[in-house]
Amino acid sequence: MQKLSIEGGRRLSGVIPISGAKNAALPALAAALLTDETVRLTRIPGVVDIRTMAQLLASIGAEVQAADNAYTIRSGGALIPEAPYDLVKTMRASSLVLGPLAARCGRARVSLPGGCAIGARPIDLHLAGLKKLGATIRHDRGYIEAAAPRGGLVGGHIHFKRVTVTGTEDLLMAATLAKGETVLENSAREPEVVDLARLLAKMGAEIEGAGSGTIRVQGVDRLGGAEHGIVPDRIETGTFLVAGALIGDELRLEGANRAHLQAVLEKMEQAGCEISAPDDSTLVVRGGAELRAVDVTTREHPGFPTDMQAQFMALMTQAAGESNIVETIFENRFMHASELQRMGAHIAARGNRAVIRGKTRLTGADVMASDLRASACLVLAGLAAEGVTRIHRIYHLQRGYERLAEKLAAAGAALELSEE
Ligand code: UD1
Repeated sequence: MQKLSIEGGRRLSGVIPISGAKNAALPALAAALLTDETVRLTRIPGVVDIRTMAQLLASIGAEVQAADNAYTIRSGGALIPEAPYDLVKTMRASSLVLGPLAARCGRARVSLPGGCAIGARPIDLHLAGLKKLGATIRHDRGYIEAAAPRGGLVGGHIHFKRVTVTGTEDLLMAATLAKGETVLENSAREPEVVDLARLLAKMGAEIEGAGSGTIRVQGVDRLGGAEHGIVPDRIETGTFLVAGALIGDELRLEGANRAHLQAVLEKMEQAGCEISAPDDSTLVVRGGAELRAVDVTTREHPGFPTDMQAQFMALMTQAAGESNIVETIFENRFMHASELQRMGAHIAARGNRAVIRGKTRLTGADVMASDLRASACLVLAGLAAEGVTRIHRIYHLQRGYERLAEKLAAAGAALELSEE
C-alpha cells in the first residue's frame, strides 16, 4: 500500500490540464457492449476505476485496446454476460454493465455490490427499471440475474423513486435496444448522463431530453460503432479550484467546462474566492483572498455535487465564521471530518450535518483516506497545512484522479508517493 506525503505551505501556480471525467468514461465504456462494431473513446482518464471497467469488459469477452487516453473496444464475438464478484466488489459502477448486457444478450448476471464506506448504496432502482422493460430478476448466491423476455427487452415507463445517476445511465443504455418507446422519469440530469446520451446517439440511438428530468428513448434494432471524446471532469476541476483558492498564487485550469460547475462556482464566489473564466473551457483561480463561511447542501445536478462536499469542507476550515454543510445524497459521507479535526480543524459532524468553525490553522498529521473524495479533501488540507501530512490508504485517490500528485507537483506542490 502507498502513502502520500505532502509538505504544506508551498504556493501553487501555473497551468493544470483537466482530464476527461471518470464518471462519464465508465458508462461510455459499458455502452460499447451494446454493439458488435468498434467504439473508440478518447480523453479517457488513466485511473484505476477505468482499468477495472476495462478488465470487466475483457472478462465479458470484449476486445479492449488502450493507448494513452484512447480506448478502442469491440465486442463482436461471443459474450459472457457476467460481472464477477471480484471486480464488482472493487468498483460499484460495475453494475453499469447490467442494462447493456440484458439488452444485447438477453440476460445478465451481476454480483450484488456490497456496502461501501459512504453508505449502503443499493441497486434496487436499476432492477425495478429493468423489470419495467420486461426483465425478470432473480437473486442467486450473491448475484442478480436479469433475463429479458424471449424477443428482448420491451419499452416501458420508468419513474425513478429517487434520482440515481448510474441507474439512469444503466436504464438509458438498456432502453436503446428495447422494442418501442421508453420514458425515464425523474432521471438524473448530470452532465455525465448527457455525455452518455451523445455517445449513444452517435451509435444510432434515438434519445430526447437527456439533461432534463424526462428522457424519451425510441428503441432501435441495432447500434453501430462510434467515436467519442469524454467530457471534462467537473469534480477534478472543482478540486483544483479549491486548491487554488486555498494556496494558489494563480492556477489556470485548461480544458475544463465552466457550465458544468455553476453551483460550485457560485458557492466559491460567495465564499470570496477569486475565480475568473477567460473562456468557457478555462478557469483561473487566485489564492490569498479572505474567505467567508458559506452554507452548502448537496443536491442532484444542477445542485451542489456530493462529490465536491469533502473538498468544500477543507476550504471552509480556512473561512471566517460558521459554515453548515448538509449531505443529502449519501449517508455516512463525513469521514474526512474527523481526519480534518486531527489536523486542527473545528468541526462538529452529526448525522448528515457538519458545522465548521473557521478559520483555523491546519497542521500536518498522519491521516487516513476513507474514500475517493475524502482523500482529495485531505490532499487539499495537506497543501494548506503547516508541516508534513501523510495520507495513508491513498489508493482511494488513484481510483478517480488522473496523475493528481504529478499535476500538483508541476504547479509547485511538494508531495511524494512512497510505500508504507
Ligand atoms: C454516481 C457517481 C458518484 C456520485 C453519485 C451522486 C458514478 C460512477 N458515480 O454514483 O461519484 O457521488 O452519482 O452524484 O457516476 N440509490 C438507491 N438505489 C439505487 C441506486 C441509488 O437507493 O438503485 C441511492 C443511493 O444509495 C444514494 C442515491 O440513491 O443515496 C444516489 O445514488 P446514485 O446517484 O445512484 O449514485 P451512483 O450512481 O452510484
